Amino acid sequence: MNILGIESSCDETSASVVKDGKKIISNIVFSQNDLHGAYRGIVPEIASRAHVEKINEALSSALEQADYDAIAVTVGPGLIGSLLVGKMAAQALAWVSGKPLIGINHLEAHLFANLLEHPGLQPPFMGMVVSGGHTDLVLVKDFGVYEVVGRTRDDAAGECFDKAANLLGLGYPGGPQIDKLAAKGNPKAVQFPRPFLHGSWDFSFSGLKTAVLYYLKDLKTQKNVPDICASFQAAATEVLSVKAVKAAKKFGMKSVSVGGGVAANSELRKRLLEEGKKNGIKVYLPSKSLCTDNAAMVAALGYHKFKKIGPSKVRLQTNPSLPILNWA
Ligand code: KG4
Ligand code: ZN
Repeated sequence: MNILGIESSCDETSASVVKDGKKIISNIVFSQNDLHGAYRGIVPEIASRAHVEKINEALSSALEQADYDAIAVTVGPGLIGSLLVGKMAAQALAWVSGKPLIGINHLEAHLFANLLEHPGLQPPFMGMVVSGGHTDLVLVKDFGVYEVVGRTRDDAAGECFDKAANLLGLGYPGGPQIDKLAAKGNPKAVQFPRPFLHGSWDFSFSGLKTAVLYYLKDLKTQKNVPDICASFQAAATEVLSVKAVKAAKKFGMKSVSVGGGVAANSELRKRLLEEGKKNGIKVYLPSKSLCTDNAAMVAALGYHKFKKIGPSKVRLQTNPSLPILNWA
């Protein structure tokens, strides 16, 4: 069964066809990084206009090599103007083709992106979403059966990378820039705080960002950007990797599935694998292009959702602050 996935929740316009929830036939992603770079953050109005301009091209390219049996589209969370572009395109296609529609939660799609490359991964597992807007630890009991065990109390992991990068005068999005510069720096140069919040599975990253701000304010000498990047990255990734693996153990899971843009971070990937190995937990990471926003992960989850509960209502509801909800 071929699912056409559509993703436009934030600043990537993407369409993809995935066979049987695992084989990518096409995955077209148009990034808007160049458009938002000058503003050092996403401008919602620019994002939605760019989606309108690119959605048809994304769809026609994705459908060049394949037909589809159903349409899965992200309905939240995200920017409302951006979400509406994908939703309207999906509904229009459903009307003309008569094919069923499946509404997908973007965060759930990140949790299942690993299905595209690791078909052996099956629930139950401990999931972690680390993206620009979210940091969630989710016990995935089955498709559609979740328990959110921890979340960020303030900034999301990606937001913290982006804000730290901004303080250092690096471009947007900051995560990939910090990752690149950190490779040339000393992670022990600056001792930034590790916000573990012992006794809770929640995260808190705003203090780490503030620590970078004060470090820069108090600095009497020329700043060493690679050292600061490496030290910041060491602090952020230590907390994420240790807590994800610890949570898996605590909840009796044998594996951790990680997704979201920050999962592309080289240090986080390394630390998660090391931490997993030390504790006998298998860590699944999507390849970097499937960590950041893409429609293939939407199509993959769409397949499993359709098989389990069938199509969604013809008129989908978008919700910019959609939480992770049980649907099965
Ligand atoms: O999942 P995503 O593409 O979009 C959202 O759903 O938010 O995540 C985007 C976030 C941004 O904050 C970006 O800076 C971060 O992922 N990111 C990274 C890396 N690549 C993307 N953060 C750290 N290291 C990276 N290599
Ligand atoms: Zn995302």
